[in-house]
Amino acid sequence: MAAQPSLLAEKLKSLSLATPLPKYPNCYPEVNPVDIYRAHLTSILTEVTGVDAAIIYPALQWTQTLEKGDLVLPIPALRVKGKKPDQLGAEWVEKFPESPLVHKPTTAGTFLQFFFKVDKLAQILIPSILKRGKSFGRNEYIGLKDPVDESKGRKKIIVEFSSPNIAKPFHAGHLRSTIIGGFLANLYQGAGWDVVRVNYLGDWGKQYGLLALAFEKYGSEEALEADPIKHLFEIYVKINVDLSAEKDEIKKLEEAGQDASHLKNDGLDEQARRYFKAMTENDAKAIALWKRFRELSITRYMQTYARLNIHFDDYSGESQVNQDRMDAAALKLEEMKISEESEGAVIVDFAKHIPGKPGKSLERPIIKKKDGTALYLTRDISEIMQRVDKYHFDYMIYVVATQQDLHFKQLFKIIELMGHKDIAQKVQHINFGMVHGMSTRKGNAKFLDDILEEVGEKMHEVMQKNQSKYEQVENPLATADILGISSVMVQDMSGKR
Ligand code: ARG
Repeated sequence: MAAQPSLLAEKLKSLSLATPLPKYPNCYPEVNPVDIYRAHLTSILTEVTGVDAAIIYPALQWTQTLEKGDLVLPIPALRVKGKKPDQLGAEWVEKFPESPLVHKPTTAGTFLQFFFKVDKLAQILIPSILKRGKSFGRNEYIGLKDPVDESKGRKKIIVEFSSPNIAKPFHAGHLRSTIIGGFLANLYQGAGWDVVRVNYLGDWGKQYGLLALAFEKYGSEEALEADPIKHLFEIYVKINVDLSAEKDEIKKLEEAGQDASHLKNDGLDEQARRYFKAMTENDAKAIALWKRFRELSITRYMQTYARLNIHFDDYSGESQVNQDRMDAAALKLEEMKISEESEGAVIVDFAKHIPGKPGKSLERPIIKKKDGTALYLTRDISEIMQRVDKYHFDYMIYVVATQQDLHFKQLFKIIELMGHKDIAQKVQHINFGMVHGMSTRKGNAKFLDDILEEVGEKMHEVMQKNQSKYEQVENPLATADILGISSVMVQDMSGKR
């Protein structure tokens, strides 16, 4: 770690404290003023308690609320035998010397509570804020691979978040993922990690064969150029109406004992399946159309994310998973007898690999359909390996709603069963509940843009309620927009995940 800046050293000297401060793991006094207190308290407490500093330092914790002190020490954490915690606490308080930085501690049950001397805190804190400016509050040492040797580089994390599905609505889950994921990415960055922000679009699968058919039938070039996200959604809704009519028709014919094979063999559903199959086989025409949909949508998404001050380093997606990789993974799963055939499809029966309830609870997901095409889970398996090779990440988090808990458990378990325990340990699903009552006033907000538009309008209404104040706002619409967006973020941050 870098030498202590003289500013801090001088400050400590003027408070007649020993400099330099002793060093502890995870102690960064030059960027985190609270660590000055932790280091100082540790020196005192080693004297007072006779316990090793290495045990004391990490035991000094933040408090939940400020009336409980600025730092707190759970007495049992020092593992002193023979006396009750409250008795030890009383003895230590008794012995505690006068300090320039902290008041004499108080005991509360099995805790010792420490309160900082406020004037001294200001004397330490304010110069530190002024000196560090915008970087105040950041601690870039945390992200170093080796905290004492900067040349070893920084740890790399992939934060995958937002990940909407092309041609489908951007729902509350995607909104929360965008906000939480964007926040976590910034947090890791502030802690000095190399952060790769990945958006894993839902842009592949049979439904996108159906979307291509919808474009042939209902699509318009101008509408696509003007607002791809909206247009693709509209034609997708239309074709789904046709599709359910087709399903009804098949049912009706079959119930009447009539032949429905023409619909089954040549209907929309089958055409979509074939179209998607052609996409997976790299059919040039099918792929070209698909690429346009995807690229136009991404351009549009980027504009909207910019309103939230969010950007992505990589627009990945289900379509970007390499087919050869999936074939190789399928082969490996088969050879290792992790997968097996079941009614023409390929599945993983977790109960056979993990005994008892844990195995059963992971169920029996399909990883290859009867026609040989891959699924959501299959793609995620190969996508992990692709990211390992591309980014050599130290850690990866997926910010996805809790509805997909099972999916991610299955995914990580399969990776582990395939012999990649090291990778399975580096990946984590950050889940969150879906907010109820998120439905919007107009009831037609299906896209992120609409949601942002609506909160801005609502904010504008509220602002207008105070006419005299409203008149003083220079650019009320732009202000309402920023306030609206901020309120969505703050509302999400103000509760637990
Ligand atoms: N597109 C998916 C959905 O909207 C979320 C993707 C989550 N990420 C992943 N790697 N599976 O449900």
